[in-house]
Amino acid sequence: MRPIQTIACALSLFLCGCSAGSAFREVEIEEPYGRKVDSVLSLMTLEEKIGQLNQYTGNGQATGPVIDDTTKIAQIEKGLVGSMLNIRGAERTRRLQEHAMKSRLRIPLLFGLDVIHGMQTVFPVPLAEASSFDLDLMRRTAAGAAREAAAQGVHWTFAPMVDISRDARWGRVVEGAGEDPWYGSLVARARVEGFQGRSLADVTTVMACAKHFAAYGACIAGKDYNTTDLSLLTLHDTYLPPFRAAVESGVGSVMNGFNDLNGIPATGNAYLQRTLLKGEWGFDGLTVSDWGSIGEMVPHGYAADLRDAARAAITAGCDVDMESRAYVSRLRGLVADGEVAEACIDDAVRRILLKKFQLGLFDDPFRYCDPEREARTVLCDSLRSLAREAAVRSIVLLKNDGETLPLDRFTGTVALIGALADSRIDMRGIWASDGAVEEVVTVRKGLEARYGRAKVLYAEGYDLETNRLHLAPALAAARRADVVVVAVGERYFQSGEARSKADIAIPRQHEELVRALKGCGKRVITLLMGGRPMIFDEAAAHSDAVLLTWWLGTEAGNAIADVLSGEYNPSGKLPMTFPAHVGQIPIYYNYKSTGRPESKAGGYTCSYQDIDFEPAYPFGFGLSYTTFEIGTPTLEKRVWRLDEPVTVRVTVKNTGHRTGRETVQLYIRDHVGSVTRPVRELRGFRQVLLRPGEQTEVAFTLGAAELGFWNADLRYVVEPGVFSVMCGPDSKNVKTAEFELR
Ligand code: BGC
Repeated sequence: MRPIQTIACALSLFLCGCSAGSAFREVEIEEPYGRKVDSVLSLMTLEEKIGQLNQYTGNGQATGPVIDDTTKIAQIEKGLVGSMLNIRGAERTRRLQEHAMKSRLRIPLLFGLDVIHGMQTVFPVPLAEASSFDLDLMRRTAAGAAREAAAQGVHWTFAPMVDISRDARWGRVVEGAGEDPWYGSLVARARVEGFQGRSLADVTTVMACAKHFAAYGACIAGKDYNTTDLSLLTLHDTYLPPFRAAVESGVGSVMNGFNDLNGIPATGNAYLQRTLLKGEWGFDGLTVSDWGSIGEMVPHGYAADLRDAARAAITAGCDVDMESRAYVSRLRGLVADGEVAEACIDDAVRRILLKKFQLGLFDDPFRYCDPEREARTVLCDSLRSLAREAAVRSIVLLKNDGETLPLDRFTGTVALIGALADSRIDMRGIWASDGAVEEVVTVRKGLEARYGRAKVLYAEGYDLETNRLHLAPALAAARRADVVVVAVGERYFQSGEARSKADIAIPRQHEELVRALKGCGKRVITLLMGGRPMIFDEAAAHSDAVLLTWWLGTEAGNAIADVLSGEYNPSGKLPMTFPAHVGQIPIYYNYKSTGRPESKAGGYTCSYQDIDFEPAYPFGFGLSYTTFEIGTPTLEKRVWRLDEPVTVRVTVKNTGHRTGRETVQLYIRDHVGSVTRPVRELRGFRQVLLRPGEQTEVAFTLGAAELGFWNADLRYVVEPGVFSVMCGPDSKNVKTAEFELR
């Protein structure tokens, strides 16, 4: 954590009673802001302070109940609203900010929005982009999204989602970086750095928000909003690292999860917010509830009523109330009755004011409301070309029998089948309602631009709404063509919030379509679209090649054409395990050994009697149009000191005929620990671009951050003992060496 200077007027670190039985540590604010924040605070009435904690929605996408309220403007003018969500546009934000400027203290409003994978220019969905394993790219797309959002008056994005999830039934896996805590932490860091840039004062950046704190992705049975119940060890080892990484990167805000964590809803969870986040981690930003999650502590059975919920939330450290109206309606009474200390409210207000100062809003509340900048930035060429780069990098080649792909120097005719291939809204993906749908390039448009309109025979194959097959025209097109490209998978709204599924197989009709097309005797290339791991075994079996194209955003069709034609040699790798059977879920690569490890021989082992335990595609998997040989890792000695960084080297060679990019992955296994450790854990990766025949060596350094773990006392430790180090192109196909830490 950054060392934080105590300031003169803000009081040295102290513990103060916030309400019966709870304690909190007041935020320490560095100069030059500490004095300013406190001087504003000293002018505020209790009502105005509570107003800063109150957040209302505008008229955008609502993911919870919306109260029809015609008095919002009047409330803004009275200083009773601190921030708004779902407001965008230079003009619109200016108009609302003008109302805030009529309030007594002229405290500017903060405008937040879910800028999840772009604004009007849409980048690939976050899980897709995580397949790129390119942190710099993710930093740049976050920065690009921030630039466009900031030009539209937005100060604050509710992103990145850094929830780890091992359950593909949970629809929100689409918003994160997948199943691995170590990789998830690096992605969290990259995205926070991208959104926030070097300084919040830069008018092309926005404040980020790490969400959903914490363990929301561990919902039982993959059902969104469901209970989470896990050991503190698993919480610290698996679910918290990306949040901690975000905080260490200076994230300005953190959003609570909807979930009940070990019996206490995250929004009312003082261990998460006070002890860890604002205590041990020294977070100086603000926390925001999720939509209505303060009020939802009532149906959770944790709070008796809205008043009780407001008390629990503010006491536990939730600063901003998003759409529960619990704070605005109940905090005054709670303070008057001595149930909530005003100091507790002051701390929340100081955190909010600090961000408003850092964003420069006190200097100029309209600095984000510039219509000319908006017009210049939205959908500009540089953002579009970044969207195309991100889209090509996100595609994963899952199968390529007989070098079916690429279709380079191809002069024949393509049968393009599948309504998804001609649907802009589906390419755009979930959580992109600000994305300009009319600008999205479909696969059909992309292929027509690449091969010429006359060479692309399109047939919808199935009805987009019902999936009813239209086989005859599809088969006729396939028979006339030289190669078949077929798009199958999920529609854009089938992964995302409240989009849990018990069965993650693609529609049965899509599988039938691929089988029927294969029956025409042509090479079949399947494009698999969606926002989560899917099961598509029959489609895979009847395809010569499979490209996982996820939802790629504005430039989807051009990017897919780039990869089909070989203009770009695919390099994506899976950030989540793809199960072979839904009954395997939760399935993840970094599981523990057990006393009776899984065995193909069955017997009394940790296996299934009716299905295999192997996934369809392991974490880290992805092919290329060329081939690579990754050697056995080497170390200059076997025994290393506990405090000494371990250096591992490995060679990688392009053994095929095309230039390609490989992601060399390094996994470790700590064989004996004071608590059991996973069979493998990703602890390094390097991308190399190699020409045919070219070879290079990559080196990894493993220090405490890579070799340690959380022990039974919840201390991060590196323990002596024997480790395996494994290198390869994915989590399964690895070569191993050993070393010992003493
Ligand atoms: C989601 C959050 C989102 C918020 C505001 C909620 O339903 O869980 O991720 O930021 O809505 O749109």
